[in-house]
Amino acid sequence: MSFRTIEWRDNKVFMLDQTKLPGEEVYNEYGDFKSVAEAIRGMVIRGAPAIGVAAAMGIALGAREIVADTHESFFRQLSNICDIMAGTRPTAVNLFWAIERMKRVAEANQERDLNAIREILRLEAIAVEVEDLQICRAIGANGAAMIREGSTVLTHCNAGGLATAGYGTALGVIRAAHEQGKNIHVFADETRPWLQGARLTVWELMKDGIPVTLISDSMAGYFMRKGEISCCVVGADRIAANGDTANKIGTYTVAVLAKENKIPFYVAAPLSTFDLSLESGDGIPIEERHSREVTHLAGFPVAPEGVKVRNPAFDVTPARYITGIITEKGVLTGDYRQRIRDMVGK
Ligand code: MRU
Repeated sequence: MSFRTIEWRDNKVFMLDQTKLPGEEVYNEYGDFKSVAEAIRGMVIRGAPAIGVAAAMGIALGAREIVADTHESFFRQLSNICDIMAGTRPTAVNLFWAIERMKRVAEANQERDLNAIREILRLEAIAVEVEDLQICRAIGANGAAMIREGSTVLTHCNAGGLATAGYGTALGVIRAAHEQGKNIHVFADETRPWLQGARLTVWELMKDGIPVTLISDSMAGYFMRKGEISCCVVGADRIAANGDTANKIGTYTVAVLAKENKIPFYVAAPLSTFDLSLESGDGIPIEERHSREVTHLAGFPVAPEGVKVRNPAFDVTPARYITGIITEKGVLTGDYRQRIRDMVGK
């Protein structure tokens, strides 16, 4: 990949600032956990797995900032740092998964001296990043088998290298199919209101020389009905025990249109995106973001001042609309509840 989404270097965290793409390719430097939390909240880094990596690195930075005479004081402050990270964005479960992983490794090493625990946390955060890249490549390899030669693949939002440690989940499937020489073409939904599709997905696919056409969200049904879309592949922010999947707002619309037009609809996600504590998608918390994302485009007003606005950032696609869930361990189909329990439950 020709960019790094996030990196730990010289005891600092570096992130490609996604709020500035595609216009500027700027890497921000973070030396403290609070600014990492702000970066997650402010969408400098976004996408479920990437948020998880950022939180892990933020906690590792925070552990280095803690001044403590006793282990009790260290762990109290570490717990506070974890709470601040957990308060950044509510929907992507990978955030909470990464925080729990960091807490667990700290607790498992609580007998060690504080500097040893700090170093263990740093190594764990880097491991979360390295593993995510490997997982994305495995998702890509498993998912590429679903993509036929010459396909036109529709994707929504950005589930690419920018949303992960690199390579991507949905875009990992697309990248792998492209690398196999399958002669595929991507249709990217622009993904209002934040424009992850137009600003990020198109940017990374064009950088890799993968053929892509940008459409506005409202055009997806038109192209499906005309027979121009072979299949859909999207990412996920949280998948409940029954397969219901939360992803970027508008994903549900794409899934319903796909079913109506008999087009396969795939979700690509790592096992860290499954939340078996939730029976169905009804329990998934949906983030509501600022009204300005809807009323303004690139800083310019596109609606009368004072208008009432709703801005849910995610929606839930019921499992019955999903043809298959592509994970690093294989592709889940059919009776999701049983299959998810078998794959994730152990
Ligand atoms: O609000 P965002 O940009 O963080 O939303 C991202 C998505 O909805 C992605 O599709 C999802 O996180 C999967 S990323 C591999």
